[in-house]
Amino acid sequence: MARNAVRLDDVRRLPDTAAPGIADARLLPDEEFSGAWSAIVLPDGMKQRMLRTAVASVHLRSAVPFDALPLHGVLLLGGPPGVGKTAGARGLSNQVARTINLETPWLFVEVDPHALASSSLGRSQRAVEQLFGTLLDEHASAGPMIVLLDEVETLFTDRSALSMESNPIDVHRAVDAALVGLDRLARRHRNLLVIATTNFPDAIDPALASRADWIFEIPRPDRDARRAILEHTAAAVAAAFPGADALLNPDILDQAADRSAGLDGRQLRKAVAAACAVRSGAKGDPDQVTGADLAAAVSEMGGQR
Ligand SMILES: Nc1ncnc2c1ncn2[C@@H]1O[C@H](COP(=O)(O)OP(=O)(O)OP(=O)(O)O)[C@@H](O)[C@H]1O
Ligand SMILES: [Mg+2]
Repeated sequence: MARNAVRLDDVRRLPDTAAPGIADARLLPDEEFSGAWSAIVLPDGMKQRMLRTAVASVHLRSAVPFDALPLHGVLLLGGPPGVGKTAGARGLSNQVARTINLETPWLFVEVDPHALASSSLGRSQRAVEQLFGTLLDEHASAGPMIVLLDEVETLFTDRSALSMESNPIDVHRAVDAALVGLDRLARRHRNLLVIATTNFPDAIDPALASRADWIFEIPRPDRDARRAILEHTAAAVAAAFPGADALLNPDILDQAADRSAGLDGRQLRKAVAAACAVRSGAKGDPDQVTGADLAAAVSEMGGQR
């Protein structure tokens, strides 16, 4: 991967990840993101639907004028914490890049909206303008790009819900600047896809929600998804600690999946780690974890039958 990145970097410059508001930047496809996509378990057909939607968006936007088809290329992933929105968005970006092979490699840029939100008057507006109006615009001019706006409610805060106390003029201006910047990017760059995530859809400014071409609501995992997530995690642990293959017994997995209703994907993976620490006798050695430990850990984490 490193060797590949150096070669591609000659073709396509990466933005400076030290720039305010940039959390990550890499060329796609990327091994790590590929793993993220295969690890995410969503309801039947949802991953494929998300991918088709993103791919269709890129095809349509690159060929049909904006005035006829006002697609902003914005996909919004909503849902409770820990259900795979961020990991899914990264994986999806990678799949889009693998599906639509262009001459110039795809650039992935993850925006950190928290770094843009500043309490001092005027600063966040300038930071947003700098990011959307200059930095992202320049990089989108150089080739296809996917922007991940994680926890987008931080940047596109609902203006109508702001009280007049906490420096709202500054927030208003920053939201206005972000919308202007997004519109400009959407109109100027056809090979641009924006994936936004939120677990507070009600806190998002309606102007952003109306710019989203598609909204996917990711639910907490159902029983089959919980079983698959537990199995994937247990298999990864057992690959490093062979004794942990006790967790891969189908009856154990069935039981843990039954008992873990209400837990999100993050909690399910952590339950496998917690299982390794349940019994004092095992001294935290993952090789000694048992199926009963997993059942106990799932219950401790609040899983229900
Ligand atoms: N649906 C899922 N399938 C498999 N693993 C999952 C799923 N959801 C979450 N996970 C695991 O939990 C980790 C955290 O997920 P992620 O950060 O994508 O959640 P999120 O929805 O963005 O949460 P938050 O709203 O708190 O940011 C993932 O890296 C993954 O290992
Ligand atoms: Mg997230």
